[in-house]
Order: sequence, then C-alpha cells, then structure tokens
Amino acid sequence: MKVLMVCLGNICRSPLAAAILKKKALYHKLNIQCDSAGTGAWHSGEMADARSIEIAEKNDIDLSFHRARQFQIDDFEKYDVIYAMDSNNLTDILHKARNDSDKNKVRLILDESHPGLKKSVPDPYYGGQDGFKNVYNLLNQACELIIQKNI
Ligand code: 4NP
Repeated sequence: MKVLMVCLGNICRSPLAAAILKKKALYHKLNIQCDSAGTGAWHSGEMADARSIEIAEKNDIDLSFHRARQFQIDDFEKYDVIYAMDSNNLTDILHKARNDSDKNKVRLILDESHPGLKKSVPDPYYGGQDGFKNVYNLLNQACELIIQKNI
C-alpha cells in the first residue's frame, strides 16, 4: 500500500505523519510505503520544521532526510490512500481530483481515530513546542490504527 500524507507547508505535520507510519510499518514488517507533500509550495526544498525534527527525535524517529515538496496531480496515480491533515487540505486536494477514483483516495487522517467527527490535526506552525507534542500524539494514535487495520 502506498500512502501520501498531505498538509499545507509539508514541513510540520505531514512529514511527521509519514515518518511515524513508516516506523510502525517497518516494526510490523508491513509493505506500506509512505511519503508526504504540501498543498502550498512556499517551503518546497526545505527541511522539516526544527520543532517537528525535535519531537520526532524524542520518539526515535529521524526526520533529517525530509525535503518539502508540493502535492502534484500525478500523486493521485502514485498513491492508494491520500491522508489530509486538516479540512482545508482536504478541500484543496479534492479540488484537484479529476474523477471519483481520485476523490475516493482522499480522507482526513483523524477519521481513523475519531470516525465521523471531521477532526483536523491543528496547524502547529505559529504555536510553541506543546502544539507539536499534541500533533505527534494525534498522529501516533491515528497511524497505530492504520497499522492495526493492515495487520
Ligand atoms: P504544516 O505547517 O502545514 O503542518 O507544514 C505549516 C507550515 C508553514 C506554514 C503554515 C503551516 N506557513 O504559513 O508558512
């Protein structure tokens, strides 16, 4: 299964989500490939936000390899599931969808842990480290449930 995590800048939430899922998939020896992208291009080519790198490191996850990139239309072909971090990301991706097959791949990541609540992973960019810890905990729970569904 190929999974794409998408947020706005591709420097805070989605790189963390992809790295968390990757680590869990490796641990469980599952064939899940995972990457991330942003709906915006402002940070393309940049490393992950230092605060995401820090919370990842605290949880034994290396994010130093990450370089931000913008979501592309052909990502609909490359990936089986596209997880939006928040409702704005979801709307933006759905606007780019060309057909029902594209649309059916897109979902909110927190629908995995909070089904039906249309919950968003809060954008931590303008906050402090606490926001990143909250993001990590939300993503860790959702990714664990994705893994459990695929075992
Ligand atoms: P992300 O966070 O979407 O989780 O990567 C953000 C990163 C950058 C900005 C906003 C959110 N920004 O406004 O530059």
